[in-house]
Amino acid sequence: MNYEAWLKNKDLEYRDGILYFGDINTVNLANQYGTPLYVNNEQIIRDRYKKLKNAINFEYKNNEIHFAVKANSNIAILRILKSEGASFDCTSSGEIRTCLKAGISPDKIMFTGNMFTDEDFKFAVGHDVLVNLDSISQLDRLVKIIDDLGKEKRIISFRINPEFGAGHHPHTITAGKNIKFGILDNQVIEAYTKALNLGFMKFGIHIHIGSGIINPLDFEKAIEKFFAIIANIADKLDMVFEFIDFGGGLGIPYNPKEDPLNLGDFINIVVKKFKEIVERGNVGAPQFKIEPGRYLIAEASIILAQINTIKYNGYKRFAGLNAGFNTLIRPILYGSYHHIIKCDNRNENEILTYDIVGPICESGDVLGKNRELSKLKENEYLAILDTGAYGFTMSSNYNSRTRSAEILINNGCTHIIREAEKFNDLIAHQIIPDHLK
Ligand code: LLP
Repeated sequence: MNYEAWLKNKDLEYRDGILYFGDINTVNLANQYGTPLYVNNEQIIRDRYKKLKNAINFEYKNNEIHFAVKANSNIAILRILKSEGASFDCTSSGEIRTCLKAGISPDKIMFTGNMFTDEDFKFAVGHDVLVNLDSISQLDRLVKIIDDLGKEKRIISFRINPEFGAGHHPHTITAGKNIKFGILDNQVIEAYTKALNLGFMKFGIHIHIGSGIINPLDFEKAIEKFFAIIANIADKLDMVFEFIDFGGGLGIPYNPKEDPLNLGDFINIVVKKFKEIVERGNVGAPQFKIEPGRYLIAEASIILAQINTIKYNGYKRFAGLNAGFNTLIRPILYGSYHHIIKCDNRNENEILTYDIVGPICESGDVLGKNRELSKLKENEYLAILDTGAYGFTMSSNYNSRTRSAEILINNGCTHIIREAEKFNDLIAHQIIPDHLK
């Protein structure tokens, strides 16, 4: 894919040297709202959701896409996905509460936590939210809470660890013998037998093997193992499933050298094979579930930031921004690449190599290393791309910096969907003991 097409796929283009996102001039946005600023593009979210939904529907109609709320929990974003018909996957009671606040009905929410507390279970059971258990020991605790609250034992699901994982960084690979998630093959029969004995009558089964997978072949081994596990449970326990959930993990092209994930290949490797298993006849008529976060949302957002300092120390050029790893932690945490471009490229100049750095007091605060850009100057704006997933949700107040505002663009209009924090937000919950007053 050529560079212009790669940008266009993210609804970005230069018009007479000015960067437009969703038909809106990014320099004007930065001037109007201030920086750093998260800019979210509604159309991209809707497009990605429809594309994935249509591709799955084409193979298997009985399916549900659960958006992984951890990727982006802004209520306006959740409402966009809700209006497209999405369901949601939450990893904490906080995420469930945010979904409920967004008007999402509990039967559209699944709770795939890990290391659940009794409070988590009480909240989920009390709100009739389906739980995906992460360990056998959690089953007794859950059942006690269901009984205490006088609720029915509806449906139960376990997260399986198929031992073959994949992902863009070791921290995002979530399957393997040394990984904390899910239950291994050797305990699966015990888990479902226990659930049967405790009186559950409906069952689901789940995997999530990792995050940021751009090559669909990386799903293959895990899926084969998963199907073997499912077949084993179906045979041994004569069990049918209400749903089979393949988790998230679909990657996006962060680097212009990468092409978008080949959805056709993904469908062939995951959905078609799933259909074959179902057609063999002993697992019931399960719903196909998937839990993408990044695929639906990453490309729908950019950060606009301003250069405050250009520095050349005789060896290296630095362009210092007002956004750092407090604003976007992925580069320092995972070594992740985020493409960074100029908002105003009208005076295209000699190309120089810069480290694009933030204002945080750590030398690791580098958002982009050795980036070639036409000569930069102080006060101009840069756009950091693909920040919609695990961008704002992982931002912090480190160095007592306030979190950025978020806006939503749609049909040429802009809406503030989160105000920038103010200094008082930073100290709002601090208490000075009497002897220090
Ligand atoms: N389902 C479960 C159970 C998950 O744990 C995750 C992500 C997802 C779905 C969604 O995965 P996705 O489709 O977004 O890859 N902070 C890291 C990513 C951590 C993902 C954790 N789990 C990053 O910035 O790359």
